[in-house]
Amino acid sequence: MKNNFYQADILTVDTISSDDLTLLFKQTDKMKQLVEKQGGDERLKNKILAALFYEPSTRTFSSFIAAVQRLGGGILPLNGMQNTSVEKGESFVHTITVFSQYADIIVLRHHDIGMPKLASEYSHKPVINAGDGIGEHPTQAFFDLYTIRQYFKNSSKLKIALVGDLKNGRTVHSLAKLIPKAMNVKYYFVSPKQLMMPDDIKYKVKELGVEYEELDNLKEIIQELDVIYITRIQKERFSKITEYEKLKQSYIINKKYLTTSKKELKIMHPLPIATGEIASDLDNDPRSLYLPHQVLNGMYLRMALLDLILNKNVT
Ligand code: NCD
Repeated sequence: MKNNFYQADILTVDTISSDDLTLLFKQTDKMKQLVEKQGGDERLKNKILAALFYEPSTRTFSSFIAAVQRLGGGILPLNGMQNTSVEKGESFVHTITVFSQYADIIVLRHHDIGMPKLASEYSHKPVINAGDGIGEHPTQAFFDLYTIRQYFKNSSKLKIALVGDLKNGRTVHSLAKLIPKAMNVKYYFVSPKQLMMPDDIKYKVKELGVEYEELDNLKEIIQELDVIYITRIQKERFSKITEYEKLKQSYIINKKYLTTSKKELKIMHPLPIATGEIASDLDNDPRSLYLPHQVLNGMYLRMALLDLILNKNVT
């Protein structure tokens, strides 16, 4: 199978094909086995990953670092740019140009949409978008889909609700466009009126031949669903804090709320849970996948992705 990831930038899910996903998921399976058997190996020896995070991160940052280190590579980890020359006013383009000299790959998170694309125009090395403002978060979508497939591989048509801040949530933008490349699905886009899925994402979903409904009431469809993928209301994207305060608790799910669900329902969240949108009584519920399944798959998948980008012939 052709490795289209080799030396490629990962800026959006739009450029990813079904065959690419098959290859990526096969390699992710291998990474899971590798970690379980011996923790890792040396396949990225002498490679350096620069993680440039202009916005806060727990999992994305740490799992990329863990991924490259488990494969023997080195790191330039900047979780926040406050102690760099960015503070002195150095331009984005100069910063990227510098890191693309030191490292073999750049993982970039930025508060503005489109910055990973701009970085890729100046970097001599591949750039991975680790979240660009309200744009996309492709690697999160890769492992969210990988996780869904672990539980619903043979299902004929999955009913998936994407819930919460669909306007500003970059994870749901990438995920909505990615799932149809690997699975047959019907979507329910559940959000307050002020936070609906953007038109360009709906347009792409339609182009992929997927049926969707938009609604603000989650309760009325609970019993139909196979997956609830709920997201945080994205406080940092609101210009008026009063508007955020009004909307921050739009959806709160707990055991009681889900009593009518199918027993096979899976509950997912990209994390962090910020305003109790999933109550802690669901943390150890067999329906919940956000801890640890999604988190762990994130590391395996990022190991696979780095291997495929940096090594032409993977084993
Ligand atoms: C998400 C993000 O940064 O977009 N976090 C993550 O990477 N898992 C989701 C969020 O912050 O709400």
